[in-house]
Amino acid sequence: MPEFSKGLEGVVAAETQMSFIDGQQGVLEYVGIAIGDLASSSTFEETVYLLWNKKLPTQAELDAFTKDLRANYDPPQGVLDMVKGMPKDAQPMHALRSLVSALSLFDDNPNANDVPAAREKALKILAATPAIVAAFDRHRRGEAFVAPDKSLGFSANFLYMLNGEKPTDAMTRAFDICMITHADHGLNNSTFTARVVISTLSDLYSAMTAAIGSLRGPLHGGANEGVMVMLNELDSVEAAEKYVQDKLANKDRIMGFGHRVYKSKDPRASELQTLAKQLAEDTGNMDLYDKSHAIEVVMEREVAKKGIYPNVDFYSATTYHCIGLKLDLFTPMFALSRLAGWSGHVIEQLEDNRLFRPTTNYVGPHGVAYTDIANR
Ligand code: COA
Repeated sequence: MPEFSKGLEGVVAAETQMSFIDGQQGVLEYVGIAIGDLASSSTFEETVYLLWNKKLPTQAELDAFTKDLRANYDPPQGVLDMVKGMPKDAQPMHALRSLVSALSLFDDNPNANDVPAAREKALKILAATPAIVAAFDRHRRGEAFVAPDKSLGFSANFLYMLNGEKPTDAMTRAFDICMITHADHGLNNSTFTARVVISTLSDLYSAMTAAIGSLRGPLHGGANEGVMVMLNELDSVEAAEKYVQDKLANKDRIMGFGHRVYKSKDPRASELQTLAKQLAEDTGNMDLYDKSHAIEVVMEREVAKKGIYPNVDFYSATTYHCIGLKLDLFTPMFALSRLAGWSGHVIEQLEDNRLFRPTTNYVGPHGVAYTDIANR
C-alpha cells in the first residue's frame, strides 16, 4: 500500500510550468519570474498572458490579448437577469459560484474540452466575471448595473463597474498588484479541485465552479475576510498582544498566518505589506496597518519558530479595505484573479490528462453480520 499522507502533504500530484514555490526560502515565481518583479513592473493582463502562454508577450501579442479580453467584458444578458432574481442578503461568494456555473447555460457548446476551446472559454470566464461580481454588489445595494468600459483595463474596469466612477490611477495600480499576486499558486486546494474536476473530462465551467467553492473556505481564500473580522475586533493597537496570546492559548487560528508550503514569510505577504502601508497612509487607515503589524510582531515572537508567518491573506485585508471594498467582497477578489491560475491549470491538465483517483486506507470493520432491522 502507498503511504497515507493526511491532507496529501508532500504528495506530488501534477506537473506545471506556471508557478514555482520554494516554501523554505519564501520564493514564488510565475514561469520563472519573481513575483516581486511582476508586482512592480507587470500588469494583470500581461501576467495572465505569461501564465497561459509560458512567456511574456510582445507588445503586439499583449495588445491582441487585451483586445480579446475587453471584447468579452459583457456577461450574457441571461446571467445578469439571474443576478436580479438573487436574494439581496445572499453572500457574494455563493452568488459568484452560482453565476459562474450559470455562464455554461449560455454557451452553445459548454462541454468542448479540446485545448483551443478550453482557452477560449477560460478567456470568456475571466473577462466576464468582474461584471458579474460588480452587478451582484450593485443589485444588493439597489443600484443600476454599470456596463463595462472597454477602454479600461481589467482592474480599472472592475472598480468602475462596482463604484460607477472611474478609479484613480493609484487605486487601479493597487488593485492590479492584488490581481497579479493572487493569480496562481501551485497546487493549492482550489487549483487541485479544478484539476480533479477536469480530469474526468467534465467541463471548464464545472471546474471553475468547484474551485470557487473550495476557495471560499476560511482555511483557504476565505481567510482574508477572517483577517478583517479580526482587525475589526481589535479596539486598539495595544490590544493586539493580549488578543493574540488568548487565541494561541485557546489553540485558535490567527487568520492570515501559516501555510502548508511556506515555512517562511510568504513573498506575496511582503509585497502586499508594502502596498497596504502606502495605501493606509494615503487613505487615513494607518490604524488598520498598525494593528496588523502589531499582530505580526506578537506572532513572530510566539510562533515563527513553528514556521508560522503571514500569508497572502494577511495584508491583502488592509489593502482591499483601503481600496474601498466591502469585507465580503475580499474573497471574490481572490477568485477574480485566481480564475487565471485555475484555468491555466485546467488547460495543462487537459494537455496531459490522467483521471485523479487516489485510494483510501479502509479502517472500518470486516465480516459484520447483516442484522434484520427488527433485531438492531
Ligand atoms: N494560527 C495559529 N496556529 C497555527 C496557525 C495559525 N494561523 N496555522 C497553523 N497553526 C499551528 C496549528 O495549530 C498546529 O499546531 P500544533 O502542531 O501545535 O497542533 C501547527 O501550526 C500545524 O498546523 P496544521 O493545521 O497541521 O498546518 P496545515 O499545513 O494543515 O495548515 C493552514 C495550513 C493554512 C490551513 C493553517 O496554517 C491555517 O489554518 N491558517 C489560518 C487560515 C489561513 O490564513 N489560511 C490561508 C492560507 S493561504
